[in-house]
Amino acid sequence: IRRKKKSVIDHPRVASYAFCFDIDGVILRGPETIPLAPQALKMLNGENKYNIKVPSIFVTNGGGKPEKQRSDDLSARLGVTITPDQIIQGHTPMKDLVNVYENVLVVGGVGNVCRHVAESYGFKNVFTPLDILKWNPAVSPYHDLTEEEQTCAREVDFSKTRIDAILVFADSRNWAADQQIILELLLSKNGVMGTESKTYDEGPEIYFAHSDFIWATNYKLSRYGMGALQVSIAALYREHTGKELKVNRFGKPQKGTFKYANKVLSSWRKGVLDEHLKKLSVDDPDAGDADILITQDGEEIINQAKLEAARDSSEEESEAEDEDAEDGALAVGKKDKITLQLPPASTVYFVGDTPESDIRFANSHDISWHSILVKTGVYQAGTEPKYKPKHLCDNVLEAVEYAIEREH
Ligand code: G3P
Ligand code: MG
Repeated sequence: IRRKKKSVIDHPRVASYAFCFDIDGVILRGPETIPLAPQALKMLNGENKYNIKVPSIFVTNGGGKPEKQRSDDLSARLGVTITPDQIIQGHTPMKDLVNVYENVLVVGGVGNVCRHVAESYGFKNVFTPLDILKWNPAVSPYHDLTEEEQTCAREVDFSKTRIDAILVFADSRNWAADQQIILELLLSKNGVMGTESKTYDEGPEIYFAHSDFIWATNYKLSRYGMGALQVSIAALYREHTGKELKVNRFGKPQKGTFKYANKVLSSWRKGVLDEHLKKLSVDDPDAGDADILITQDGEEIINQAKLEAARDSSEEESEAEDEDAEDGALAVGKKDKITLQLPPASTVYFVGDTPESDIRFANSHDISWHSILVKTGVYQAGTEPKYKPKHLCDNVLEAVEYAIEREH
């Protein structure tokens, strides 16, 4: 890869390193935006003394809304454009289950929102606990459906409908009813309400979007999260059956979510670089064509022959690197007829507030990930974090400044 003198390129160059942000406790606290977050994100968008743009994505265990709603909200709060392709919520990787299960019960979130999110992922028959309560309100004593809940619920005969999997998408808004329904299905024959298995091995699979026991909101102390519901359901199951519940987990710190995040980051980096190259060629009609190949764990080689050519040419050209070129940037010369192989990010800085999910996530799967713990969320300054970050700092802006200085 040939690097070009900075003077030739006006647009912010694209960094070879990248950022990955947790949201709650780093960017937000409940409904409030953490004050220095907009400045941090603008800095990564090119507003820095190195005139460099750093590709960034968000990996939150939160959910309960479409990725587009989340990205629109973040764009408005942060003053930079964030797109749905940059967002991974706890339930986003559940897309991969679309062809595995026909009938799913989606738990959590407000009204019908999670049903619609699941349908947008491609799930065919998506049911909710409200549908079950409408079918038979006696399923959960002491809860009468509100008018609003009535309108969200669909008419379904659950004595004749099999639930193949329970997908806990977002925080339950009604623990009593949701636990009652989840337990009944786990103990059922083939996921049919009103039945009981004698062997306790005929019920549906259960998946949780994440396992955060607590999380940071705008309340002084952390609040129980989906991980606490998971503990509660497992305890009830154990009490009832004497057996351990088998739970399938998504979210941080799970490896599946890490792989998913890498895929998303890889395509986002390619997009940022493509856009950069497009801008260069608009400015200079003589600019050469750019043909970019991505190799991420050998999985996304677009054209093997071109890849070989890219390897050869990048070896030759790296010997002729410009002396003025700055380190850490994937800047490309305008007139070069290039075939560029985009390698994985040199370092991925992961900024999180929860040692058990964020720091463990960033430390466990790939040594090129660099974990940064901030003090604006679950982690309490002065305590010993269970999983040690590579760097500890006050807030997200300090995290960004630290990483940029470390790279230049
Ligand atoms: O429910 C959301 C919470 O558990 C954590 O969200 O953004 O800190 O991963 P986040
Ligand atoms: Mg967090």
